[in-house]
Amino acid sequence: MAIKHFLQVSDFTLDEYDYVMERARVIKRKFKNYEPYHPLVDRTLVMIFEKHSTRTRLSFEGGMQQLGGAAIYLNTRDSQLGRGEPVEDAAQVMSRMCDVIMIRTYGQEIVDRFAAHSRVPVINGLTNEHHPCQVLADVFTYIEHRGSLAGKTVSWIGDANNMLYSWLQAAQVFGFHLNVSTPKGYDLDVKLVDPHNKNYTLFVSPSDACEGSHLINTDVWTSMGYEQENAARLKAFDGWIVDGEKMRRAAPDALFMHCLPAHRGEEVAAEVIDGPQSVVWDEAENRLHVQKALLEYLVLGRVA
Ligand code: CP
Ligand code: NVA
Repeated sequence: MAIKHFLQVSDFTLDEYDYVMERARVIKRKFKNYEPYHPLVDRTLVMIFEKHSTRTRLSFEGGMQQLGGAAIYLNTRDSQLGRGEPVEDAAQVMSRMCDVIMIRTYGQEIVDRFAAHSRVPVINGLTNEHHPCQVLADVFTYIEHRGSLAGKTVSWIGDANNMLYSWLQAAQVFGFHLNVSTPKGYDLDVKLVDPHNKNYTLFVSPSDACEGSHLINTDVWTSMGYEQENAARLKAFDGWIVDGEKMRRAAPDALFMHCLPAHRGEEVAAEVIDGPQSVVWDEAENRLHVQKALLEYLVLGRVA
């Protein structure tokens, strides 16, 4: 049987998302009721981190333990990956010793190469180009608060980064429209977007991109790995802050999301991230629940 990986949002069909989200709802309910649920006893998750993390590590490591399994943390500094062991060799070795692997790294091609040589499912825990686990949690969070995203308008205000490319794929899968506004010089790279994707519109003005929107989304102006561009980015992104004025252009019941960590006063005003339309803490918590459902699905297949 072919191994299923989760490297980009487009790797799953809508039917698979419907299944995983339903499992996430069940698994979340069990967690909230302190009901033990251990379908992954004797299974091991290996987590490879080549970049920093708080939420991703905590949600995968805690989530795997809550499912009855074990999680092992590796980073570039301590493992042979940092000393140049080929990704292909690492994939062969690691995937003989565990049941599922999560990787947070730089180029998407690294997770692609890793997955191509792995005997077990591989999960993208963030690359320069994609962050599918976060968007899985975000879509789940929207549905919890407002119901289906189909036919809705979502806005992306800020950098053309990993989160944006995952949201663009989500627009196609879940059938919503994405209004995108990125500053000049930090435009979307069309090579990273499916040419058949008709579910987005580019806006010069970030305020116009918020008009009538059901969900306003932003992220840091400088992602991990781009720190040397920070000063130039601070200048170029002037005007792209999500503030109360932009939120007022959106639909009255619009939500605000940010994958975190956030910089108040840069990409988002405190009044917005700490305001009543913000669901950022739910998004963060839901990483745990959706990733437990994802681990269950990738390791065991459909169980219900
Ligand atoms: N949102 C997110 O992935 O957070 P971490 O970088 O803390 O894992
Ligand atoms: N775009 C950010 C997301 C962090 C979770 C980054 O890649 O640093």
